[in-house]
Amino acid sequence: MPIERIRSGIPGLDEILHGGIPFRNVVLLSGGPGTGKSIFGQQFIYYGLTLGEPGIIVALEEHPAQIRRNMEQFGWDVSEYERNGIFTIVDAFTGGIGEYAKREEYVVKSVDDVRELLDVLRQAIIDLRARRVVIDSVTTLYITKPAMARGIVMQLKRVLSGLGCTSILVSQVSVTERGFGGPGVEHAADGIIRLDLDEIDGELKRSIIVWKMRGTSHSMRRHPFKITDKGIIIEHSKTLKLRGGLYQEIPA
Ligand SMILES: Nc1ncnc2c1ncn2[C@@H]1O[C@H](COP(=O)(O)OP(=O)(O)OP(=O)(O)O)[C@@H](O)[C@H]1O
Ligand SMILES: [Mg+2]
Repeated sequence: MPIERIRSGIPGLDEILHGGIPFRNVVLLSGGPGTGKSIFGQQFIYYGLTLGEPGIIVALEEHPAQIRRNMEQFGWDVSEYERNGIFTIVDAFTGGIGEYAKREEYVVKSVDDVRELLDVLRQAIIDLRARRVVIDSVTTLYITKPAMARGIVMQLKRVLSGLGCTSILVSQVSVTERGFGGPGVEHAADGIIRLDLDEIDGELKRSIIVWKMRGTSHSMRRHPFKITDKGIIIEHSKTLKLRGGLYQEIPA
């Protein structure tokens, strides 16, 4: 029987994943600053909404208002979906401080309390019957306590996967780091997608590589991608190849 897959809504991604993200997978999306991780997550959630699939963004890095505003810039207006109860932002950023935060329905009061976050998230998933969840970023949850990283990701996985969600965990790595967020986290995740930004001939080039994806075969190439005013577009028929220490764009 073919496995159930979730269409990502990111042009080119389902092609390199040979059909989409396997249902219930928890995917680590890692990359350096400005590589497009937040946009990727927002696009994944918004596309789900257009299909009628409820979605949740857990905000740990940015103010929920900023996330809504950022999404609007790409034409992803979530207000209607929020009113209809199929989209929400779990606010694990403000700690409930400020006028704006008072309007949020799902607020984590102690932003460092992972147990509270899990409780609020579980409730939101149940209330919305969420199918897609993005956590932006998981790194925030364990940056000061790396020994806890695997345990935290496993707890998240049990909630997310257990309640039937397909999820993206945004993982921040430094510009020079080759890994994806530490060994514990990398093995616990069902999939790893990495976004990169490399300077080639004085120009920054974006690329994406799928390092692992449980439950499916996938492209083993590094593909160039663009961020436009409509979001991320992956050039799945092109490869960005490292030659003589430099990446070169060539047709696949
Ligand atoms: N409308 C747009 N058109 C083209 N590129 C854009 C547009 N808006 C943002 N970008 C690019 O996207 C980048 C930001 O992407 P994003 O916020 O997803 O990064 P990130 O990986 O989440 O970074 P961080 O780890 O710092 O949060 C900007 O630095 C810019 O290069
Ligand atoms: Mg971000």
